[in-house]
Amino acid sequence: MHDFHFKNGELCCENAKVSAIAQRVGTPFYLYSYKTLTDHFLKIQRAFAPLDPLICFAMKSNGNLSVVKSLVELGAGIDIVSIGELGKALLAGADPQKIVFASVGKTEEEIAFAIETGILLFNVESEPELAQINLIAAKMKRRVQAALRINPDVPAPTHEYTNTGSLKKKFGIDLGTARRIFRTQAQYSHVKINGVHIHIGSQIIGPRPFVGAIKKVADFIDGLRAEGITIEYLDIGGGLGIIYKDENPQTAQQYADKVVPILEKTGLKIIMEPGRFIVGNAGIFVTKVLYVKDNGLKKFVIVDGGMNDLIRPMLYDAYHEIVPVAQTRGVPQKCDVVGPICESGDFFAHDRLLPRVKKNDLLAVMSAGAYGYVMSSNYNVRPRVAEVMVRSSKFKIVKERETFKDLVRGEKIISW
Ligand code: LLP
Repeated sequence: MHDFHFKNGELCCENAKVSAIAQRVGTPFYLYSYKTLTDHFLKIQRAFAPLDPLICFAMKSNGNLSVVKSLVELGAGIDIVSIGELGKALLAGADPQKIVFASVGKTEEEIAFAIETGILLFNVESEPELAQINLIAAKMKRRVQAALRINPDVPAPTHEYTNTGSLKKKFGIDLGTARRIFRTQAQYSHVKINGVHIHIGSQIIGPRPFVGAIKKVADFIDGLRAEGITIEYLDIGGGLGIIYKDENPQTAQQYADKVVPILEKTGLKIIMEPGRFIVGNAGIFVTKVLYVKDNGLKKFVIVDGGMNDLIRPMLYDAYHEIVPVAQTRGVPQKCDVVGPICESGDFFAHDRLLPRVKKNDLLAVMSAGAYGYVMSSNYNVRPRVAEVMVRSSKFKIVKERETFKDLVRGEKIISW
């Protein structure tokens, strides 16, 4: 469900016309609906209310300060993966005691800053990382809390690149090693190992993989308990799938119905890290048609946005629905929607049926709120686009379009 809909043939975001926003800010740009964003957060909160979990928004999916702030205001914590994300989370007003920090490669600088900040939990992904955190905490004369990120080795039917819960992947700690760490934790005098974390992958449609992974770690935690080892937190990660095309993903409530009973039995404080579920369908990417060409074999709709702005189609062969911002009638025609970049991978859609479009028409690439702007780059020396947020009929720029100055900032022409 989202708040992008057609009214009198015009695509609107809540009560604002997308074309009017395009006229003011230019194209391309990302457009977010405050209502969709916050509704999705509240849906998870309501579904999991019996557990009163800490919902840490995975800001890797969308790190815009206003997006993060909107969720922080509703009580969200933040799941971070870098010192940059930590800095932005703090700027957006996040409570450090609601911040959890995952990443297989935390640097010394990142660890020290997170300790300094007083985050809730380090989600530790290896034994040497745990030793490193212990060492830095000792130097800083602090005692910190950590959860071990367990790799439960469960299959998750998702794209190879977003599948993280198998031992073929770099993430987390295998169960045997984790058990040994728990048993010998006394050696880490400056780290209280107080939780278990899992995150098995992203865009997971059905509950089975989640249930399998949660059951596995619940058993693991039971085993620890039997040995007299207790913990306080269980972080179940993110990964809930959304509708891009014709998926039939579980709702937040269906997910909760399956996992709450298992989680309740653990008696632990539950942490969740949804990203895509909250922001994926709360954002679109708006781009303008520059040219239409037909080479006899194929028709190409060439737009002003490119793979540098939204890389998901190229990287994961991801499907994003594309709709003209002004509805038109007529027989849909097959075409490739492509960007201006010098690579054949620069496409938004292949052989897509679209109504006839012409120069200057606006197209909306739907479901682009998660892993859209955050994965954009300056490839081909293209400025990162603007981000705009709508609330009811008002819209505000929440990130300015980059300028040429931004593109050359820090670069030097040297002479020897
Ligand atoms: N927690 C951890 C530790 C994660 O690594 C991730 C995502 C999440 C939570 C949030 O997962 P979500 O609820 O958004 O599925 N760029 C890819 C997705 C990469 C996901 C990375 N980790 C894409 O565009 O599909």
